[in-house]
Amino acid sequence: MSTQPGAPLKRLTVHELRRMKERGEPIAVVTAYDATAARLVGEAGVDVVLVGDSLGMVVQGHDSTLPVTLEHMIYHSVMVRRGLARAGARAHLVGDMPFGSYQASPDEAVKAAMRLVAEGGVEAVKLEGGSDYVEVIRRVVRAGVPVMGHIGLTPQSVHKLGGYVVQGKDVERAQALLRDARALEAAGCYAVVLECIPTELARVISGQLAIPTIGIGAGPSCDGQVLVLNDLLGLDPTFSPRFAKRYVELGTESIGAVGRYVAEVKSRAFPAEAHVFHSAAVRLVPVAEESDVDGREDLPGVVGAPV
Ligand code: KIV
Repeated sequence: MSTQPGAPLKRLTVHELRRMKERGEPIAVVTAYDATAARLVGEAGVDVVLVGDSLGMVVQGHDSTLPVTLEHMIYHSVMVRRGLARAGARAHLVGDMPFGSYQASPDEAVKAAMRLVAEGGVEAVKLEGGSDYVEVIRRVVRAGVPVMGHIGLTPQSVHKLGGYVVQGKDVERAQALLRDARALEAAGCYAVVLECIPTELARVISGQLAIPTIGIGAGPSCDGQVLVLNDLLGLDPTFSPRFAKRYVELGTESIGAVGRYVAEVKSRAFPAEAHVFHSAAVRLVPVAEESDVDGREDLPGVVGAPV
């Protein structure tokens, strides 16, 4: 979604996202972690780009999101902001509050959220947790930073949850998640991610909240959907969770492409004539002639001065 050069860019706001819910228009959200990806997803017309702390797994190679720091989040947010600007995209940009940046106190949460906005260039932050985080959310919102909530499977609590497992499957836990969702809305969240919960529960929550719900593994009744870009592109051929649809097999395609490159380097098929530069002024000089050229004695027979 590009604009005319020079035209003022009207970014999608939290209010517009709310209006999308009201008129029943689904919200398309995807993650991005660098400028190239941001340009691509911006041009593809996504509504919201999330700089997710999933970067700990898909970019940094960790097996959880826990090692991601606030500095990492700011670093990647800056790149994504730049890529969206290059694409002239009007996507709304959200940055994840990493583990340890908001749990200890509302004061710390406010400071971290402000850094993500001021230094990272995001328009809103996302943080994981339910009713226990009401005070943190209130304070961050009061400081002027919109907050997207995140409940259900909250990866920063992977050790407490006992793994990456579907949440809210029994009545008691489903009711607790519904209470959490209501508490987040009351605390001032402008949207809430519902991760890996039964589709029936997501339908109830989405119907009861006025703010948009963004689902991942939560079924089609959510007001929007979010996918990790690497999953959508099939970048890891070995990772295929049930909730993530691959729209292309870029992982397999990439392995094939790089394999063809390696083969062509080995066979000298690459680079071909189309990939090289020429200079009529540079010629190979025979050794005898070359020794006459000033300062060339140390490079016998390699290259001559311009003819
Ligand atoms: O970190 C992330 O990418 C996320 C999405 C999966 C919602 O939190």
